[in-house]
Amino acid sequence: MRILTGIQPSGALHVGNYFGAMLPAIQLQQEGEAFYFIADYHSMTSLADASKRRQYTLDVALDFLACGLDPDRCVFWRQSDVPEVTELAWILTTVTHMGLLRRCHSFKDKLDKLAGGDEGKISHGLFAYPVLMAADILLYDSNIVPVGRDQKQHLEVTRDIAIKFNELYGQTFVLPEPRIREEVAVVPGIDGQKMSKSYGNTIEIFGEEKATRKKIMSMQMDSRTPAEPKPDADQNIAVQLMKVIDAATGKEYEEKLRAGGLGYGDLKKKLFEAYWDCFADARARRAELAANLDFVNQVLRSGAEKARAVAGGVLRRARKACGLA
Ligand code: ADP
Ligand code: TRP
Repeated sequence: MRILTGIQPSGALHVGNYFGAMLPAIQLQQEGEAFYFIADYHSMTSLADASKRRQYTLDVALDFLACGLDPDRCVFWRQSDVPEVTELAWILTTVTHMGLLRRCHSFKDKLDKLAGGDEGKISHGLFAYPVLMAADILLYDSNIVPVGRDQKQHLEVTRDIAIKFNELYGQTFVLPEPRIREEVAVVPGIDGQKMSKSYGNTIEIFGEEKATRKKIMSMQMDSRTPAEPKPDADQNIAVQLMKVIDAATGKEYEEKLRAGGLGYGDLKKKLFEAYWDCFADARARRAELAANLDFVNQVLRSGAEKARAVAGGVLRRARKACGLA
């Protein structure tokens, strides 16, 4: 069984990314052949800064390896190191209807938010994003694709494209199944909304100590005194975050808050400590990796080689099926 997923290098990874995407992916390494890549081609649809792309790509590699991705168990590479994916994207785009892409929520959202509904202001790449994603998945005969709920529709598009190609040119592509992480609650940001880079409310996994402490201590709470019992303790954002990081301590502090006698300052201090401890080992590993970039680059190079070997076979099959070879 082959498990494949991609993560975009679009900024520093945060605690929401960790619990929502990275940790499940790291755990899935045990269940099959894990193929994970850094989606740098995709990042071109939202980021037009070359040096930032280079930096974020390296950051994602360091973050993922530090958090427990095991290069001996999993194939880990940079998407653009296997340029075959762009050829497959072209082949697939010729069997993809415009209407299918126009219906994608993520496209519609971005069209509204980034361009006020004006198609003249967005790139074709943003529109064609799901076709490249389909190519990512189909190029490796992927069986299982772990993604967040927001990517569910893109998986349906991938299946539609594969079915269409198979109908037109004969059985060629494996149909992938999404593995949606419904069970992972949405991790809240420091303002209580979903933690997201685009809302500026994140706690970075590898944030600097002083700045992160300050961020956590600045979380807004209500004006009730420490002594007052708080029957709504489960609604408190610091409690919710603590439960995500460490369920037992989170529960303990929820009870303390509910009973009364715990001040918000102490609660936030505890949250910072829980966060800092949770990533202590990973932080040390990250520092080691950052001092040994040759190793990191070697992991990505050797991942690309292994990925490319699989990609080459599938692409040959697709080219043959449609009469390019
Ligand atoms: P962001 O919203 O910060 O831009 P992305 O959209 O790049 O994050 O998400 C990358 C991965 O992390 C996706 O699989 C997504 O489902 C997961 N993820 C992002 N934010 C959260 C969150 N607050 N809680 C749980 N999972 C999240
Ligand atoms: N679109 C995904 C996201 O934004 C990233 C991604 C690109 C991906 N290609 C993929 C995920 C292929 C799974 C499979 O989160």
